[in-house]
Amino acid sequence: SSVDSTRNLSSHGDEEDVFPTRQGLSAFNCNLVHYQGFWYLDTSMVARIFSARRHFQAQPSDIFICSAPKTGTTWLKALAFAIVSRTTVDDDDSTANPFLSKTPHECLPILEFTFPSMTRNDDYGSCLPFFNRDPKNPLIATHLPYSSLPESVSDSSGCKIVYICRDPKDTFVSMYHFFAKLAASRNMEPIPLDKAFDLFCNGESSFGPYWDHVLGYWKASLDQPDRILFLKYEDMKENTGFYATKLAEFIGHGFSSEEEGNGVVEKIVKMCSFDCLSNLEVNKNGKIAENTPWEMENKLYFRKGNVKDWENHLTPEMAARMDLITEQKLSGSGLTL
Ligand code: A3P
Repeated sequence: SSVDSTRNLSSHGDEEDVFPTRQGLSAFNCNLVHYQGFWYLDTSMVARIFSARRHFQAQPSDIFICSAPKTGTTWLKALAFAIVSRTTVDDDDSTANPFLSKTPHECLPILEFTFPSMTRNDDYGSCLPFFNRDPKNPLIATHLPYSSLPESVSDSSGCKIVYICRDPKDTFVSMYHFFAKLAASRNMEPIPLDKAFDLFCNGESSFGPYWDHVLGYWKASLDQPDRILFLKYEDMKENTGFYATKLAEFIGHGFSSEEEGNGVVEKIVKMCSFDCLSNLEVNKNGKIAENTPWEMENKLYFRKGNVKDWENHLTPEMAARMDLITEQKLSGSGLTL
């Protein structure tokens, strides 16, 4: 496929370079842009990543919720947000449930979307990208691969990182349906399944190659297990209470024995479950990013929430091809997916 290049990021600093672009598996069938080994939605996103890498200063209290798209981000965000804000979260008191009026995505700032849009003046009057922290919410979400995080996140600040990954076959199936529905919402033709599959396998998907994304966080979690918690969607489905407790402890918001005795863990798990979240009015009929080019129905974040749904969509040959890629990519890493 054709690779052209773009050079329109010059106003964003000294990392100017030639960025290959090509059609990939992405929202609105956009051309993806290649930067530091990964594919991104468009040049404006790469520009925002530049800006975040240059100006974002992590703080020890920050908690990063990291994932590749379609691996369970919505769920992990909901659990983490419910955990850190649980003094105000009670599903018996409907006014205190934060998910009644907004999706979990709206509860956390997203580094590569939010970061440079907020500015403050420096001493000389020029505008600097500025990250406006909510003192009550230490969570920051990102789909950035580990190797492209701002240095202060990956190296020096001591902030915590939680990463979720998922079987690549289910991740692909989820992504295919997500982009197909997004395309339909704009009266666009969806990419056919077999073409989407080739693109995903070649790594040419939004924030892909998927396997490199997972491996970056996996290796970092082995090096720094106290700072990086590595989770799998499938494990969490099997024993959500156990992982919610582990997550809470890891991010410094562990449950007291009184809370455990009062069923707080179960309440949070239920409130964040696929069935509960997907049946809320806001997630059935609401929209995110309304009146912007990224406007989207919230219901697109909730499809089935099952493990092994790939069995309903991929041929045995497709599954074998993807399994082989996974085996080759993860070989020697100690990780299985
Ligand atoms: P499926 O398309 O397989 O159903 P992300 O949040 O990273 O975009 O991932 C989306 C996937 O997570 C979708 O998977 C979606 O249905 C599933 N999902 C959303 N909310 C969930 C929840 N509360 N529990 C489990 N899975 C959830």
